[in-house]
Amino acid sequence: MTAAPAVKPLDPTKVRAEIPILHQEIRGNPLVYLDNAATTQKPAAVIDAVADFYRRDNANIHRGVHTLSQRATDAYEGARGRVRGFLGAAEDAEIVFVRGATEGINLVANSLGRSIGAGDEILISWMEHHSNIVPWQLLCERTGAVLKVAPIDDTGALILEEFEKLLSERTKVVAMVHQSNSLGTVNPVREITERAHAVGAKVLIDGAQATSHRAVDVREIGCDFYVTSAHKMFGPSGIGVLYGRRALLEEMPPWQGGGDMILTVTFEKTEYNELPHKFEAGTPHLSGPIGLAAAIDWIEALGLDAIAAHEDDLLRYGTEALSEIPGVTIVGTAPGKSSVLSFTMDGVHPHDIGTIVDQEGVAIRTGHHCTQPVMDRFGIPATARASFAAYNTREDVDALVRAVRKVAEVFA
Ligand code: ALA
Repeated sequence: MTAAPAVKPLDPTKVRAEIPILHQEIRGNPLVYLDNAATTQKPAAVIDAVADFYRRDNANIHRGVHTLSQRATDAYEGARGRVRGFLGAAEDAEIVFVRGATEGINLVANSLGRSIGAGDEILISWMEHHSNIVPWQLLCERTGAVLKVAPIDDTGALILEEFEKLLSERTKVVAMVHQSNSLGTVNPVREITERAHAVGAKVLIDGAQATSHRAVDVREIGCDFYVTSAHKMFGPSGIGVLYGRRALLEEMPPWQGGGDMILTVTFEKTEYNELPHKFEAGTPHLSGPIGLAAAIDWIEALGLDAIAAHEDDLLRYGTEALSEIPGVTIVGTAPGKSSVLSFTMDGVHPHDIGTIVDQEGVAIRTGHHCTQPVMDRFGIPATARASFAAYNTREDVDALVRAVRKVAEVFA
């Protein structure tokens, strides 16, 4: 047996040096940015790629015969190919650019949703972000379909046996998060997909929190749809990706109508464009995919295995140190969890934690993190949440722990 190749560890100090925004002071302290699950900061290479596009290549795409338009089209379509490779999809036609993961889910709920009827079931989990709950609720309201929710245990892990019990021939869609934004739980998406396919359900995986932390291969997972957002993976905001299997995308009607998604239009009838353009109505976010492709280059140069190993170290280190502070409870302790450290403190509202640590220059998020059902499940209104990215260091974690100790002192 050959040993797995060793992962070349990343040097977080060097990585940090590539992120311009991090080099500033907040309230007299060096900025420590630990709100990466909300959005990630951007490497200079991504900022430059977007700026260069506007300096050099900006023009509308797919429409012009002039050189700039061709250059812009090549860059935009080249970025699609880059995303295809990154996600392991078979063809560029299976990569649809959308505004973000939320829009990708809404697209599927609206378009695939046209084949859903009264009594059909949509199965999600208790740990979903609101963006993977509300579009399905809207679909259920429109069609009379029924939303089913697979429970999670006290660690925040999906209870697979309960998930399986909820699957039946009535289940038409299983929509599941890859990595939970509020708990850090990583779901066994391949197993979930296999079980869902066994009853004939289509599977959508919400990968918004996954793609900057682990290698994703949609064909290995076997899912029908996978969505993610560029801004959570060091790319620009307002651009994201819907991967869909060609056969399904072919069958699905367009969601939005407009320019670029058509082949011919008469008042009597419109013929739709080929994939993926059928789903990209109107002038798109031209520079978004270019920034996303630069972000993918940046991630791949570091290596996702190295990023995962580094973040696991930060998570272990931070969990140990925070747990030693009296009154702190970690929320979300599922085995194999990743990069998210949600916690509460006895007698302190999470917003007060967030405000006090901000005085020390430490940026974390507090609230329900767009997962109110998770908060209800744990009987809490909110958590404080530190979330890690490739550029965070153990020193960042030390700063967080010092700041949280100050909170404990203030409220002692
Ligand atoms: N969904 C984002 C978060 O977890 C905004 O913070």
